Amino acid sequence: MKLGCPKEVKPQEFRVGITPNAAQEAVAHGHEVLIETQAGVGAGFDDDAYVAAGATILATAPEVFASADMIVKVKEPQPVERKMLREGQLLFTYLHLAPDPEQTRDLLDSGCTAIAYETVTDRNGGLPLLAPMSEVAGRLAPQVGAWTLQKANGGRGVLMGGVPGVGPARIIVIGGGVVGTHAARIAAGMGADVTVLDRSLPRLRYLDDVYGNVFNTGYSTGGLMAELLPLADMVIGAVLIPGAAAPKLVTRAQLSSMKPGAVLVDVAIDQGGCFETSKATTHSDPIYEVDGVMHYCVANMPGAVARTSTIALSNATMPFMLALADKGWKKACADDPHLLAGLNVHAGQLTYAAVGEALGLDVVAPETAIA
Ligand SMILES: NC(=O)c1ccc[n+]([C@@H]2O[C@H](COP(=O)([O-])OP(=O)(O)OC[C@H]3O[C@@H](n4cnc5c(N)ncnc54)[C@H](O)[C@@H]3O)[C@@H](O)[C@H]2O)c1
Repeated sequence: MKLGCPKEVKPQEFRVGITPNAAQEAVAHGHEVLIETQAGVGAGFDDDAYVAAGATILATAPEVFASADMIVKVKEPQPVERKMLREGQLLFTYLHLAPDPEQTRDLLDSGCTAIAYETVTDRNGGLPLLAPMSEVAGRLAPQVGAWTLQKANGGRGVLMGGVPGVGPARIIVIGGGVVGTHAARIAAGMGADVTVLDRSLPRLRYLDDVYGNVFNTGYSTGGLMAELLPLADMVIGAVLIPGAAAPKLVTRAQLSSMKPGAVLVDVAIDQGGCFETSKATTHSDPIYEVDGVMHYCVANMPGAVARTSTIALSNATMPFMLALADKGWKKACADDPHLLAGLNVHAGQLTYAAVGEALGLDVVAPETAIA
């Protein structure tokens, strides 16, 4: 199969869909890998690295789209890219179709087959192609929060780990899933005093079993939040209720109970945010202040560490990419129900129920589409 990887064109996107190591694996499987020139440069991979891996460099995106049987990307295809998709072509990338009727319409019109990273599942009920980005955002959250806590950035001037004779920063992490667990581990590793709140007792039991000596756990209620907020130097929001907007767990009125210069890091901002005062920010202007409390609410946190994020994403997507290339998408999906769960669009038909529901469009069962 010919695998094509164009340079990402969405503003501020520096990741790339195929790393040189993934390209090398695909070549070893007998496939041809076509990379648009400079596609990997934002993630620190120059054209020579791809050539050394056995890939071919093409000068333009239209050449990649015209030649490839399968397009592997990071972000949803932008309008200019959607025009280049064709009938029978396979697209493997993040799509997030539910809030995006225009993209959905263009993908249906193109006749392509589109498998969305974000709906591929695993046997534990998890989302294996979303998890790496949650791991990145979680580990980044205490790092950006620590920076925001510095005086020059509006914070209260507290060092995460304290020093001998001075106590550490006190951190609350709301939500003990993938983001929250990684955030808590890194914050504790920086020496902070960390408490993770969740509403799932099985999850709290797991966290206590595995990290009982590293951080504390608490059952997330409004009462406990009101108790902890006045003590906190930083609160990291990492909740998720699948398919719903994030619940608002800290109100504007509660900010006045917090210490001046305390920091809120709202990782859940991509689901609307879990603090009432959160509004999405960008890497170029990431923080703002409300009632004396600093807010960091960047919706695309992994973009800040494009190289780590690219490699982490590629590690997760590569086995699926190889299965699709080795077997063809129909057999790969027939063999693996978790990959089949990623099928969103095929030959002008929508194949993902939740997207159909959100957009009021008819859906064909994915099993029917591959039959
Ligand atoms: N900003 C970014 O760049 C970025 C990157 C990755 C993920 N995210 C977002 O981070 C959020 C968390 O993602 P995740 O992968 O960790 O999800 P997850 O499903 O692994 O974890 C979410 C946790 O929240 C808990 N929860 C639900 N309601 C709660 C409540 N009221 N109080 C306390 N805990 C509650 C759940 O029990 C679960 O353990 C999501 O909104 C995700 O979209 C943002």
